[in-house]
Amino acid sequence: MDEPRTAQLERLLAVGRSLVSVAEPDEVLDHVIEAARDLTGARYAALGVLDRDGVGLERFIFTGMDEETRAGIGDLPRGLGILGELIRHPEPLRLEEIGAHPRSHGFPGGHPPMSSFLGVPICIRHEVFGNLYLTEKEGGGPFSDEDERLLVVLAEWAAIAIEGTRSLAAEKLRLSIESSELERRRWARELHDETLQELGALRVMQEGALRASDPEAAREALARAGRQVESVIASLQGLITDLRPAALDQLGPQSAIEALVERITERSDLTIDLDFDLAYEGGRVRERLTPELEAAIYRIVQEALSNVVKHAEADRARVLVEEREDSVVVTVEDDGDGFAPRMGGRGFGIVGMRERAELLGGRFEVRTALRGRGCRVRAELPVSRVGEA
Ligand SMILES: Nc1ncnc2c1ncn2[C@@H]1O[C@H](COP(=O)(O)OP(=O)(O)OP(=O)(O)O)[C@@H](O)[C@H]1O
Ligand SMILES: [Mg+2]
Repeated sequence: MDEPRTAQLERLLAVGRSLVSVAEPDEVLDHVIEAARDLTGARYAALGVLDRDGVGLERFIFTGMDEETRAGIGDLPRGLGILGELIRHPEPLRLEEIGAHPRSHGFPGGHPPMSSFLGVPICIRHEVFGNLYLTEKEGGGPFSDEDERLLVVLAEWAAIAIEGTRSLAAEKLRLSIESSELERRRWARELHDETLQELGALRVMQEGALRASDPEAAREALARAGRQVESVIASLQGLITDLRPAALDQLGPQSAIEALVERITERSDLTIDLDFDLAYEGGRVRERLTPELEAAIYRIVQEALSNVVKHAEADRARVLVEEREDSVVVTVEDDGDGFAPRMGGRGFGIVGMRERAELLGGRFEVRTALRGRGCRVRAELPVSRVGEA
């Protein structure tokens, strides 16, 4: 094979590989038009995305034109003229002279001259998603058979990649709906087991007070009921804070976790060591982590510690939240009983922690050994900051 062809093939393979790895649909489209232009020697390349009705263009992405020229043209094409021809007849269209086609509307003033044209549809599952266009073949002349075959391949790849990103997005949505359902179920259970029980007890005390014949006994029953009300209020307050701690939004995960640890140590004998090394909190960067990441850090520590309190019979636990180059590592370990991982499965805690970590593109692992060597939960979450793309 001669050298330009080898280079072209290499470039095509590189595009194929890059399409496999991108997760954002827009990134796919950018890759495709850049590659189409590069591989065919077209001066301009563009991609039009069809509107919902499939009659016009909803988006038009292009490359090869500087801002000034672009600004001089006015509105982006809507899918009339030749572009409309391709929408009505979704098959490759190759023209030596755009202006000579009977459907051509001509160009608006300020539009750079364009003569050669090649357009192919992008079809996803038998539906036209949009079209790929090239104009102005390098050195004059029309686009070749080979250019057309190349563009058809790129359009097919683009379709596969776009479909891939769509199903990835659908899967993420499904996971997040499922996990919020699980959370609701847990909070319902928590309300049922704690608050409803306490209110039930309150009612018994109140009835006792009503039935008491002697005023002294009635007063005492009412005082007891009063203390019970205090306790219901305190547990509801705790529950509300656990649901959505204000400190998390206002002050970030470190303060929220510190407050959480304080609440836990108040109501249990567990000693908790806390260790943080976060870049924003440590003053090394100016942007906070994204709210999703901050919430995940907090929720994972919260669930892991709640498991230690509920199941581990531990004396000590250690929480470590450490930011590295491009990940935040959250570790919670305890010196308790540990458990056989296969025995778990009734609860949602471990499943939920794993889902949170994986939804953010991170990893999650629970290590545990029987015979009192405790348990270690570790999540590694990719760093994302507010204000970054
Ligand atoms: N730190 C730990 N020490 C000992 N056993 C643990 C620990 N963490 C979890 N387990 C065991 O693993 C099981 C599953 O934990 P998971 O958090 O998924 O559910 P749960 O705590 O039982 O219920 P939920 O979290 O939904 O309230 C627990 O029931 C417990 O047996
Ligand atoms: Mg749990």
